[in-house]
Amino acid sequence: MTSDHSAHSDSSLPAFSPIRWRDDHLELLDQTVLPHTEEWLKCRDPGAVAAAIRRLSVRGAPAIGVSAAFGLVVGLTGADESDFEERFDSTWQLLAGTRPTAVNLRWALDRGRRVFERHRASGPAAARAALLEWAGELHAADIESNRRMGAFGAELFAQGDRVLTHCNAGALATGGYGTAIGVIQSSWAAGRLAMVWVDETRPLLQGARLTAWELERARIPYRLVTDNSVGSLMTRGLVDRVVVGADRIAANGDTANKIGTYTVAVLAERHDVPFYVAAPLSTIDRDTPSGADIPIEERAGDEVTHVFGVDVAPEDAPAANFAFDVTPAELIAAIITDAGVLHPPFDQSIARAFDTP
Ligand code: MRU
Repeated sequence: MTSDHSAHSDSSLPAFSPIRWRDDHLELLDQTVLPHTEEWLKCRDPGAVAAAIRRLSVRGAPAIGVSAAFGLVVGLTGADESDFEERFDSTWQLLAGTRPTAVNLRWALDRGRRVFERHRASGPAAARAALLEWAGELHAADIESNRRMGAFGAELFAQGDRVLTHCNAGALATGGYGTAIGVIQSSWAAGRLAMVWVDETRPLLQGARLTAWELERARIPYRLVTDNSVGSLMTRGLVDRVVVGADRIAANGDTANKIGTYTVAVLAERHDVPFYVAAPLSTIDRDTPSGADIPIEERAGDEVTHVFGVDVAPEDAPAANFAFDVTPAELIAAIITDAGVLHPPFDQSIARAFDTP
């Protein structure tokens, strides 16, 4: 749980990414089988990309956006003059319907449509080539923006801080480097961080399976705790800061993130622990006025009644499985973005961040 507080340099390393393009197809690191198995899924048709997003083989708002961008390219593979426009539209619709909460999905698809519109007159091969180039740039830009966010966020940390995070907002959830975990990595590299408390994150255990795996790889000290430990940790004075990612931030700063985030934020306020959200501007949806307008994904109940395929509840137990909750803006001390750190009142600081060229 200790650190030597010296600077741990990592910024020159290339970011690890769960998404890669190989010759003519998309490959995604299958996050459903991590941490014990590292397996890359080959996606050669849009159905495979959509299925990977739905079953959380690739998950986390920015990673879903980047995958969907490459998914549009996959949709045009083998297309000809007679069907490429229809194939683009059906791929777009299919991907748009996969997960409702992470706004980066729609953000990336809307940009992809604009690229397609600009090149459709040149025919299927040129349109596909333009989309592929754009998707690659989007992927690289996401990693770059996470590194910037990391540097901005590290400034908020003090030496010896113990930070708590929920779910996985790391390299696996993005094009690479991570949002909340990016901030954690940069704070560690700057010698400010002592250790990380990792919420296991029921029902699908993104904290235990993915965040712990990433922190192991980065050699950052951490301890895994059950989600219901947060109050006790804070009562004992063991948490100095909280940093989490976001699936969608409304224009007023209300933030949707993995279920359980709101609980952490309420406890943080009670214990005077600063609660930060780290997310790129692409996660801020100015068309969504407040958290009440954010669509919350409901997933199958068997994710709650079963753990790794083992039924832990009475047979046919009814379950509710809201995948995300909304943390009201008033519980958030700062939103760390790729354009700098935003402070309350967020309706104003968000508007300014978008108005700045
Ligand atoms: O259901 P998931 O695993 O896709 O949920 C992911 C989260 O809630 C992340 O915290 C969020 O997408 C930010 S990822 C940088």
